[in-house]
Amino acid sequence: MSENSRPHLITFSQIGESKLGFISVAENSKLPFQVKRVYWTYFTPNEVIRGNHAHKELQQILIAASGIIKFKLKGIDGSEYSFELNKPNIGLFVPNMYWRTIEFSHSAVLLCLASCEYNEDDYIRDISKFA
Ligand code: TYD
Repeated sequence: MSENSRPHLITFSQIGESKLGFISVAENSKLPFQVKRVYWTYFTPNEVIRGNHAHKELQQILIAASGIIKFKLKGIDGSEYSFELNKPNIGLFVPNMYWRTIEFSHSAVLLCLASCEYNEDDYIRDISKFA
């Protein structure tokens, strides 16, 4: 099984120093896919759980640009993964066909680099149609 067929963390460069702050960089040539869309999720109420879907084709890199974000992922083979992101230079690669639930800490910001433009037909929102 290739690395990019299962969820895993990606460490981005962290340029700078604590007295000035840092920059992290994502460049297409170093990513597992070409980025076609960027979106971000924010102002999530306490205890809300987002996600609850899988994607047929879409691959994503998810970054907690601020705050703490917890992910639970489930593959069609029954494999399960949990990740807690709390560093802005760490991304979570999520392949297609992983059911996800996402929990946010107060004022967290989720940044997503996505391999496709938005297409509602790519979503599986009914878990009974997933596995
Ligand atoms: P969704 O992907 O279900 O959000 P989450 O996984 O965070 O719960 O998207 C929520 C709504 O926003 C849904 O109606 C589709 C819409 N949406 C777009 O129109 N374009 C986009 O790029 C995204 C990510 C969502």
